[in-house]
Amino acid sequence: MIRSEATAAALIDAAASDFAEMAKSLLEQKTRIRVLLTGGSLGIEFIARVGQLDLDWDRMFLMFSDERFVALEDADRNEHQALSVWPGLRKHLVRFPGPDVALDSARDLLNEQLTLELGPVSGALPVFDLTVLGMGPDAHVASLFPGHERSGQWVVSEDNSPKPPSQRLSLSYQALNRSERLWFLAAGESKLQAVRSSMDASSGLPAARVRGTEQTVWYLDQEITDAL
Ligand code: 6PG
Repeated sequence: MIRSEATAAALIDAAASDFAEMAKSLLEQKTRIRVLLTGGSLGIEFIARVGQLDLDWDRMFLMFSDERFVALEDADRNEHQALSVWPGLRKHLVRFPGPDVALDSARDLLNEQLTLELGPVSGALPVFDLTVLGMGPDAHVASLFPGHERSGQWVVSEDNSPKPPSQRLSLSYQALNRSERLWFLAAGESKLQAVRSSMDASSGLPAARVRGTEQTVWYLDQEITDAL
């Protein structure tokens, strides 16, 4: 499904208001919900907006779908950027390890932690209620880049990212595909081709390889939708 809005700001408004509705309704049905957040300008704006909502955040599992493997306090981290727009998130966020251990050890540690919480990644049922993803002009999502196949279970490590910083940790394709709802956020002409190709699953691009089990929504601005 496509949600087309006039501007990037309007698409964040729409996504935030859909989030409020979804979270309220799910929290009436279950004790806890799990949401994967995303970085980038739209992802951080979305977090700033939802952080103002009056929701029972104590009953939410919140983490990013990827993180730059730099120090915990580094401004390059998605987590750092999110905490600077919503300091209260600190209490609820499941954080990625920082580089006080080697990249692959950090991947294995986080993988163990997620396996305890979610069971094996090979399970069939969705475990995330919502995954929100931005998209690069190359159609990368999280830190899954075109042509970079990385092995792992819940988590993969990227040691040669085309976009700095080169070391990153990311949830895997298999992990992202265990989400009931998946929302893409994209705005501006620079994302047009990526969006167009990613709507075609046969393109094999990272954003074409992830879908919600129940729902996939493309929050797009008119610059993209007018040209699709
Ligand atoms: C990174 C980026 C990137 C970003 C997308 C979407 O991996 O280094 O942060 O993945 O999330 O490019 O960015 P925008 O929301 O700014 O379009």
